[in-house]
Amino acid sequence: MSALLRVSGLRAAYRSHAVLHDVSLEIPMGGVTTLLGANGAGKTTLLRAISGAMVTFKGSIELEGRRIDGMSTDAIARLGVAHVPDGRGTFPALTVEENLMVGAISRRDRTGVREDMGRMYELFPKLSGYRRSMAGLLSGGEQQMLAIARALMLRPRLLMLDEPSFGLAPLVVKQIFDMLREIKQEARLGILLVEQNARLALEIADSACVLEVGRVAIAGDANSLRGDPRVRAAYLGLQQEST
Ligand SMILES: Nc1ncnc2c1ncn2[C@@H]1O[C@H](COP(=O)(O)OP(=O)(O)OP(=O)(O)O)[C@@H](O)[C@H]1O
Ligand SMILES: [Mg+2]
Repeated sequence: MSALLRVSGLRAAYRSHAVLHDVSLEIPMGGVTTLLGANGAGKTTLLRAISGAMVTFKGSIELEGRRIDGMSTDAIARLGVAHVPDGRGTFPALTVEENLMVGAISRRDRTGVREDMGRMYELFPKLSGYRRSMAGLLSGGEQQMLAIARALMLRPRLLMLDEPSFGLAPLVVKQIFDMLREIKQEARLGILLVEQNARLALEIADSACVLEVGRVAIAGDANSLRGDPRVRAAYLGLQQEST
């Protein structure tokens, strides 16, 4: 089966500062692929390159067999790539409902959009009570939920999440990951999840990839990475085989 996303030989730089060196990876349709790596490894840069938010890179990026590198961010989004950036990916001066509408801006199926809007309020009941509130007034956790809901309004083929747990209380992180499990079950899409919390990420992921200073150091199914001594020592804080 062909991959949902195939990145080959990607090199990216900010001016003369090279950040990604020959990165290749595949994301299958269905399931969660997690991208792990220390601060500065280039995780966010990789997501930016995929979504077209970064112009200076070489290599090829294919979505369902079609080259998307070189396309505009808008064109890539229309093909079904939704990117929830690090930080709060919402429009603070728009209401919750307006933020969701923005997520669906490229869709023409009004009935589907209305249905999906209802589905988002089911998935995130907290948002339902704030439909007409400004997004900027929501708590950090609620804004992260809104950012994910907004991305889902695109009906993406590929959903990319950049550290959705960052700065959130454990209970809120649990709610977000429970919801990701639900999406993974019900929607036909692939999820690329960047996470600092490797334990949590490997629990939900089917496959995983470790980026070390701009190179893929380890890649494989999530189970084998959980047992990999290098991952256990560097990302899970474990030395022994026991858990
Ligand atoms: N806009 C930018 N201009 C110049 N250098 C940048 C820019 N964004 C990132 N970098 C540099 O690129 C490298 C990789 O950064 P990136 O944000 O991709 O890492 P990351 O793996 O997402 O890290 P973190 O876990 O801290 O989010 C770092 O050395 C960073 O300083
Ligand atoms: Mg980052």
